[in-house]
This record gives sequence, C-alpha cells and structure tokens, in this order.
Amino acid sequence: MKNPPRIFQLLMLAATFSLVSTLALSQSAPNPAGWYTAAQAVNGAKAYQKTCASCHRAALQGGMGPALVGRQFWLTYAGKKVSTLWSAVHTTMPMTAPGSVSARNSINIMAFLLQKNGVPAGTTPLNDTADLSKALPAN
Ligand code: HEC
Repeated sequence: MKNPPRIFQLLMLAATFSLVSTLALSQSAPNPAGWYTAAQAVNGAKAYQKTCASCHRAALQGGMGPALVGRQFWLTYAGKKVSTLWSAVHTTMPMTAPGSVSARNSINIMAFLLQKNGVPAGTTPLNDTADLSKALPAN
C-alpha cells in the first residue's frame, strides 16, 4: 500500500499503542502464576555476576561456557524439569568449584536465568524442593 488511507494509519497507531501498554502492564502487575519473585532475580543477578559471569559473560551471552539465554538456553531446558537446571547450577557449576554455590544463591541465580529467558515473575518464591519436579515452559 503506497498511500494507505489516513484512517488505516490511525488504526495501526492505536493498535501499536495498546500493544505497548499491554506489555508494560504485564511487566508491572504481580503475576500469581509466576515462577519466582522479582527479589530472587535481583539477588540472583548479583550472585551470577560474582560467580558465573567470568565464563558465561555479563549478559549471559556465553564465552568460556555456553550462552545461558535465548535459543541456547531453551534448546537445553525447554520442557525439562526444574531439577535439570538445578543440577547444572547447584551441582556442576561453577566449573572451577562445583557445588560451592549455596542453595539459596543457586535458587536466586535460577530465578535470574528464568527472568532473562522471559519466564514471568510472581508472588511465590521459587524453591529447591517442590518446584524441582515442575516442568519448565516448553517455549
Ligand atoms: C570457569 C568457567 C565457568 C564458570 C565460573 C561457570 N561456568 Fe557454567 N559452564 C562452563 C562450561 C565450560 C560449561 C559447558 C560444559 C558443561 O556443561 O559441563 C558450562 C555449562 C553451564 C550450564 C549448562 C548450559 C547448557 O546449555 O548445557 C549452566 C546452566 C551453567 N553452566 C551455569 C553456570 C552458573 C549458574 C554459574 C555460576 C554459579 C556458572 N555456570 C559458572 C563454564 C563455567
């Protein structure tokens, strides 16, 4: 369409705005169906930067270790049990000192990884018992 009618342009504009505000809303509203709390992700980000970023890089893009975000993450973890991620984070990592990350920090780091991969936060904290048998989103 070379010269779309003005009404069409306005409709597109309105659609864009409503999409943007829906997205903004879904980010700020606490989601009872979420996987972890925002506080866990904040603490996880700190622990990650301290113990993991040297190999997986600050933006999780991968370096000495594989990327932990996007396609690479979902190739490994889509539909897998949370325990699969837990064993990587808590048992086999960090590569140079496996098992050295506390349970609390491991859970926080997992919350941070889920957040970076678009899994929603909620009101119930992620935990290292009941949640381990849950299946991660299939994405
Ligand atoms: C000294 C470098 C190093 C550090 C530090 C490190 N990793 Fe890794 N990580 C690796 C390497 C190399 C691999 C790939 C080999 C493997 O899976 O055993 C890996 C694999 C992983 C995987 C599996 C990813 C996949 O797609 O299979 C996860 C998850 C992970 N690391 C998380 C972490 C977390 C969380 C931390 C911090 C607590 C951490 N790593 C610290 C080097 C490191």
